[in-house]
Amino acid sequence: MNTLILSSSLAGNSRSYLLCKAVEQELLDKGDNIIFVDAREIPMQPTHKGLTDKMETLTKQVEEADNIIFGMGVHCYSINDSLKILLDACFGKATGKFFGILCAAGGERSYLSTMHLTQICMNEWRMMQLPRIVYATGKDFTEDTISSTEVLERIELFSEEFHTIGNKLA
Ligand SMILES: Cc1cc2nc3c(=O)[nH]c(=O)nc-3n(C[C@H](O)[C@H](O)[C@H](O)COP(=O)(O)O)c2cc1C
Repeated sequence: MNTLILSSSLAGNSRSYLLCKAVEQELLDKGDNIIFVDAREIPMQPTHKGLTDKMETLTKQVEEADNIIFGMGVHCYSINDSLKILLDACFGKATGKFFGILCAAGGERSYLSTMHLTQICMNEWRMMQLPRIVYATGKDFTEDTISSTEVLERIELFSEEFHTIGNKLA
């Protein structure tokens, strides 16, 4: 199966990027094909300003992927701004695809913020979500390493389930 992992944070020290990288490694170990896209490498502009070349490339990658994993940071109890720009501009061909969410937040009380991404994907493109989210906060990391055993276990479980269900649907 071909999985697109979109790490959507533009932060230099992004924690959701680390979650994406950990899941990428798990899925590579299981033999899946991964296209890893780091939004920090995509020059982007809002929808009505047109698509940059790298945004056009992402649009094609979305179309070609069997399924998609989003890495997101929580901003104001919702998705981060760069993810919203990419969703609006590049996900027109995501219809019906299976997806999963990896989320980094500042605190533990923002876990429902991922529901905004769920709503967008399900309402706009009838996508189907893996009913398990990896949610991590600052205390789960030491420098640029995931140090929480609980989060590492969830990453393993998320990857196993995403791999199993993703392959059945691909
Ligand atoms: C503009 C902004 C708004 C934020 N709002 C929230 C919030 O509502 N809830 C929360 O738990 N963390 C919030 N945070 C903290 C981020 O979720 C946290 O830094 C997380 O690590 C971001 O993901 P990233 O490291 O992948 O960029 C906010 C950060 C920024 C920059």
